[in-house]
Amino acid sequence: MSDKPPVSQQSLRYDATQDSVWIIDQTQLPHVLVERELKTLADACEAIEAMWVRGAPLIGVTAAFGLYLGLRSGAVTTPEVNAAVQRLAQTRPTAVNLQWALDRLSSILIPVDVAQRPARALSAALELHAEDVAACAALGEHGAVRLENLWHTKCAQAEERGESAPSQLNVLTHCNAGALATVDWGTALAVVYKACERGVPVHVWVDETRPRNQGASLTCWELGERGVPHTLIVDNAGGHLMQHGLVDCCVVGSDRTTREGDVCNKIGTYLKALAAFDNKIPFYVALPVSTIDFELADGLREIPIEERSAYEVTHISGLGDDGTVRRVRLTPAGTAVSNFGFDVTPARLVTGLITEHGVIEANAPALANLQARLSQA
Ligand code: MRU
Repeated sequence: MSDKPPVSQQSLRYDATQDSVWIIDQTQLPHVLVERELKTLADACEAIEAMWVRGAPLIGVTAAFGLYLGLRSGAVTTPEVNAAVQRLAQTRPTAVNLQWALDRLSSILIPVDVAQRPARALSAALELHAEDVAACAALGEHGAVRLENLWHTKCAQAEERGESAPSQLNVLTHCNAGALATVDWGTALAVVYKACERGVPVHVWVDETRPRNQGASLTCWELGERGVPHTLIVDNAGGHLMQHGLVDCCVVGSDRTTREGDVCNKIGTYLKALAAFDNKIPFYVALPVSTIDFELADGLREIPIEERSAYEVTHISGLGDDGTVRRVRLTPAGTAVSNFGFDVTPARLVTGLITEHGVIEANAPALANLQARLSQA
């Protein structure tokens, strides 16, 4: 692997002049913005496993390019393609976009003559890349209309009560469902970016998102880069803010959504949804349709939940006063740790699913309707 300064802000980009695949190494953010070149299938697997790339849509696109890299190295026979698919599928279990991308590439590649497979894999990976950008931009527009309506309602209610005009619309988000979690735009944060473009004065409450702190390090970084006002809060603060009228809406992403509307996302999402429900605050989930697993009905029982290393909980990394990144231990040595990466929010707590095809209800009939529309397209 070689490092070089970034020439693009996209989380993953393909350089056609060099036939090279580059990703932003997210484990270095917010301290250093650096791209790494993925040269082999093994590089792509390592990038996903070590979370240089993360976020459901980006994992899927990275897997597609990983498969291309495997084929480019000459592993073009059907058993070799199947082995590469299996290897990539094992990298992370929860985000269904990974399997979705691999299924799509396999179905394109297997019927094709072996000599044509590398070129076909590249064009399919590039298609996924472009589709991800378009889907995130489109779902952002649909979600932005909801935020705009909430903003108008908030202003009208303040006027009715004879209060001064509100200064901002407060949106709470969890983890990083931003441009960094996709190729560009993001899911939950695409909604924020598009609302800002429409003139809604959005302020984002950012959950720090222990243990890996994707909110603190990634969401704060990308909101800062784009000039969106935001405030970092500890993971347990959301309920308190909601009780005191300081949250107008929650918008989060998803790693897998079932055909009945249950939503699996970063651990802690469920508690935010419960608090939002109790305080009658809209709780939206923004996701491209590649995140919907139409095979599964019951999210609680059927979605595989990733369990990660104890080290992520016992240790924390950050920038020391001397400017170097350090890891320090938080706990007594040998402390027993449980580290589930995701939880499931039942559909009944979800106000709406914001997709590139519009905002739909989180229930079986609405998802069946969407599936029917997708199969006709
Ligand atoms: O473990 P991560 O960082 O890959 O988890 C990411 C999330 O939970 C995101 O919210 C989810 O993938 C949606 S991203 C658009």
